[in-house]
Amino acid sequence: MSTKSKKILVTAALPYANGEIHLGHMVEHIQADIWVRFQKMKGHTCLFICGDDAHGTAISLRAEREGTSPEEMIQTLHQAHKTDLQDFLIEFDNYYTTHSDENKQLVYQIYEKLEKAGAIFTQEVEQAYDAIKHVFLPDRYVKGTCPKCDAPDQYGDNCEKCGAAYSPTELKHPLSTLTQTPPILKKSLHYFFDLPKYEKFLKNWIHSGTVSSPVAHKLNEWLQTGLQPWDISRDAPYFGFPIPHTENKYFYVWLDAPVGYMASTLNLTKKNHAIHFSEFWENDKTELYHFIGKDIVYFHALFWPAMLKEAGYRLPSAIFTHGFLTVDNQKMSKSRGTYINARTYLNHFSPEYLRYYYASKLTSGAEDIDLNLQDFMLKINSDLVGKVINIGSRLAALLKKHFHNQLRREPVSHPLWLTIIAEKETIEMYYTTRDYSKAARLIMNLADKINAYIDEYKPWLLAKDPASLPKVHEVCSLGLNLFKVLITYLKPILPLTAARVELFLNTPSLNWANLTDYLTHTLNDFEPLMQRIDHTRIQSMTDAAQTHDTPSDNPAAVSAIEPIKPLINYDKFDALDLRIVKIIKAEAIPEANKLLKLTVDIGSGTRQIFAGIKRAYTPEQLEGKLTVIVANLEPRQMRFGLSEGMLVLAGDGQGLWLLEPHDGAQPGMPVK
Ligand code: 2FM
Ligand code: ZN
Repeated sequence: MSTKSKKILVTAALPYANGEIHLGHMVEHIQADIWVRFQKMKGHTCLFICGDDAHGTAISLRAEREGTSPEEMIQTLHQAHKTDLQDFLIEFDNYYTTHSDENKQLVYQIYEKLEKAGAIFTQEVEQAYDAIKHVFLPDRYVKGTCPKCDAPDQYGDNCEKCGAAYSPTELKHPLSTLTQTPPILKKSLHYFFDLPKYEKFLKNWIHSGTVSSPVAHKLNEWLQTGLQPWDISRDAPYFGFPIPHTENKYFYVWLDAPVGYMASTLNLTKKNHAIHFSEFWENDKTELYHFIGKDIVYFHALFWPAMLKEAGYRLPSAIFTHGFLTVDNQKMSKSRGTYINARTYLNHFSPEYLRYYYASKLTSGAEDIDLNLQDFMLKINSDLVGKVINIGSRLAALLKKHFHNQLRREPVSHPLWLTIIAEKETIEMYYTTRDYSKAARLIMNLADKINAYIDEYKPWLLAKDPASLPKVHEVCSLGLNLFKVLITYLKPILPLTAARVELFLNTPSLNWANLTDYLTHTLNDFEPLMQRIDHTRIQSMTDAAQTHDTPSDNPAAVSAIEPIKPLINYDKFDALDLRIVKIIKAEAIPEANKLLKLTVDIGSGTRQIFAGIKRAYTPEQLEGKLTVIVANLEPRQMRFGLSEGMLVLAGDGQGLWLLEPHDGAQPGMPVK
């Protein structure tokens, strides 16, 4: 094994600045952060670079909807993203933005080189255009009936029902999601990057070990079908960088997004003069790794290397691709409370719990990973609290009580020590290859062995007999040294716990080099490190997520008007039992941010309903009001009690408005 220190630059994909960070984003950030922390523990120089992806149509539309400017909105979200990621213990060396002078300068410089090389050409393109909003519509902003299977309400790029891919102009009955009006077709001149020119280069590059073989296989398929020139321009109005020497043309967001990796590095060099831009972007002696999701392989493994090559920059050493996050084996869903923002999670749980849970599922492949909240709870309680932390807390208590925190001055010689430290290289390999699930499993096996050793001697019983105290001292001393090794193994995943354990162990920073050092000194008092999770916390998080967390990086969600849902027949309408009720009591629930508990009179009796309207109304404003509920919705068990119906409210993701009938309506009256 080489012990030579390396210089590495790692990037995580830049989150869009049009929505909050959610648990889906966290898969990649956690995956990359663990890898970076591991490299640092090995003594390598490893820069971790990221930032916001701040351009594009979705950004300007959301800003417009919120009555703000794109500049102001991306600034607010930049701060929020930074804090969320920091609070998840993601340790970036720089978190910047694509809307920056550095990025503009680099984009212009790269574009000039592409132009000089003859890799840019123009061509007229006919596109869907919203004549009311005066904007060209990105594919996802047109919805209509699938041309292949007639499924209604499909996006303009592909059908979620039959999987067919098409262009928005092929949709039947297309409507702009912005205004619900049929788009018109409009021509305009577009700028293209001549990707086919780089076919030979790309064919070689993707087979040089830069991507995993399944990804290389997929790329090969695309290469076989033939590469298409890439449309890199968008017409005004657009939030992005204007294309030099053109009028009203802007660079497509995906042209400047990956350049943002370079821009963030360049910005870092201004803050830290010991770091040199050229070392990481113009020099093959350093290493460059991009962590990305499987949906953006095309951009990173085809467009990006072709651009870098032509512009004379170094190429990525490898691209690490991961799968998507599912929650309970389904896409994250607002209605099930499984669309969970990073902040909502952090309001309920330690960041390390999710870091460990994801690590225990992550492999070097790009399979989707599933977050099952029940399994999450069991795993944290059993692995982290039950197996690992328990070793430290049990033994620390005894060491303090009987030995004033002083470890045995002589190392304890025992085969278990050798067994545990013998796994160092295997664990190192698992971290290096991003097989964190194997690392976690192996570390837990080691924890089982250590617990079995402690249970064999039961030092808490031995301690009752003064003659056995030397044995107790031996078990505590070895056990706590083994605990130190376990925590070192887990440190890339649990950096905060590791820092607390370093304090307790009274040691310098735990790393790969001092992993096998045996401690014989006096420790500090042990402070509690982790708590068990219970059901109510999980429920409280999903309730909060259901109430506040809205998918906003979905173009449909940023549209000004919600699209009308597909037609239903009369029977379906009739199945809904809408009733007038009178709110007779409204109570705030102190532990819930959004929920009010309502008691409503439904004519034939009263019902209890929990409604997420605390932000919009005080209890006093509601008491005595008539309104409408869905009376035959299945009752739902919530953390605070059973909810027996649902209020019908108007809302746009921002405000909420109660519906009130005119005078004369009575509780219990059906609404038809
Ligand atoms: O897919 C996304 O979320 C993009 N914002 C990622 C950009 S990565 C890089 F190229 F900037
Ligand atoms: Zn279809």
